[in-house]
Amino acid sequence: MIPTGIPIKELFRSFSSHLGKDIRVNGWVRTRRDSKAGISFVELNDGSCLKNLQVIISHDNPSLVEMLPIITTGAGISAFGTLKKSPAKGQPIELEAKEITIYGTADPVSYPLQKKRHSFEFLRQIAHLRPRTNTIGAVTRVRNRLSYTIHRFFQERGFYYIHTPIITTSDCEGAGEVFRVVAEHMEEEFFGRPTYLTVSGQLQAEIFALALGKVYTFGPTFRAENSNTRRHLAEFWMIEPEVAFADIEDNLKLAEEMLRQIVQDVLDNCDEDLQFFARFIDPNLIGRLEMIIKKPFEVITYTEAVKILEESGEQFDYPARWGCDLQAEHERYLTEKKFKRPVAVIDYPRTLKPFYMKVNDDEQTVAAMDVLVPEVGEIVGGSEREYRYDVLVEQMKQKNMNLEDYQWYLDLRRFGSVPHAGFGLGFERLVQFVTGVQNIREAIPFPRTPGHALF
Ligand code: 4AD
Ligand code: MG
Repeated sequence: MIPTGIPIKELFRSFSSHLGKDIRVNGWVRTRRDSKAGISFVELNDGSCLKNLQVIISHDNPSLVEMLPIITTGAGISAFGTLKKSPAKGQPIELEAKEITIYGTADPVSYPLQKKRHSFEFLRQIAHLRPRTNTIGAVTRVRNRLSYTIHRFFQERGFYYIHTPIITTSDCEGAGEVFRVVAEHMEEEFFGRPTYLTVSGQLQAEIFALALGKVYTFGPTFRAENSNTRRHLAEFWMIEPEVAFADIEDNLKLAEEMLRQIVQDVLDNCDEDLQFFARFIDPNLIGRLEMIIKKPFEVITYTEAVKILEESGEQFDYPARWGCDLQAEHERYLTEKKFKRPVAVIDYPRTLKPFYMKVNDDEQTVAAMDVLVPEVGEIVGGSEREYRYDVLVEQMKQKNMNLEDYQWYLDLRRFGSVPHAGFGLGFERLVQFVTGVQNIREAIPFPRTPGHALF
């Protein structure tokens, strides 16, 4: 067995219980500095936290001195020694090395991650090494915490986690932005009919909501949208709760509670990483996160939103007009300038939204809801579902859908149909919002965008 090390995070958290003792730490060298006073300082990082542990190598120890030339940035090593109080400023502890094992060297000439700031564009090209940077390491830890707390949020409220299919026969959103699934070296359809990578688990989640009451999905979704923006991915993760016996107001309440609780959890548990983002990525970050917790969401109808935009006096690239989709610039105006808080826009024109949304009494709009937040724009999209058989059929006909393909979905309205509602939270948009990273490509370990898929 490989000797295990104590996570550096653990050491910083409870160093008093380790002081004076011999311990082991495993990690990767960030830097090495040799002083004239006969000591070398190695900054070691193990990914458990942002902080490095300083390892002291005394030049009095010949076997360690021999290794120095290969203890270079990027090397994977194990350091064993005594944990001591550090005399240096800014760090409470350091490790006085007795033994070092070098598992893997990293040639200083060809190792791409040197101790300087690299651009995110450059780091994306070396996506196999970028998790070793401070920023991507911190994003990864926050992303992990967010997944955990989202599951906890729904589990604590009695929701069942449903694994909806990744290969599907329907295009839930009806936008035609699907990837086809075909088997290599096979002429005919593998599944006997055309199949796609799912754009959303919603329709299947509805099946289970109408049996178990409260369910959610948390899985990958795929969209062949040819948009190269800082908030679109071709493969992204979505959390989709679906609740039976619920309407649009219940839906809004759930979305608001969810966002508030998960942001609070990250503030409570990812302080070091968030402080790092606030310092190097986005100085307004903490204020923005606290705003989510303190300020109730502004709820406005689409019609009101368009009116506000028309009367704003702003020069938009695409002027807002009733019947047109809200653009990123409109979303940002509403959240960042007008209301300075999250804004839920409800009751969109039915022509703009998919077939499954409940038609409102005015017959012009549907019970949709988009939650917009500063910086990111739309983070949540959802609706009350059309549960009346006849109205649903009419909607589907209007959208030129093939009713045969959706017989099962219509069946849910023929047998025990009840009001129900749900939404989708874009997980990477949430990570973007919580970390402040400008581009969504930094919010996911392996970004897939038009023209770009590594590994
Ligand atoms: O608004 P959307 O398309 O809604 C649905 O898919 C519904 N079926 C959800 C539901 O009601 N169960 O997508 C939901 C969210 C968006 O608000 C956005 O945050 C995110 O998913 N999203 C994307 N994130 C990254 N890249 C893309 N291309 C995205 N498209 C949507
Ligand atoms: Mg949407």
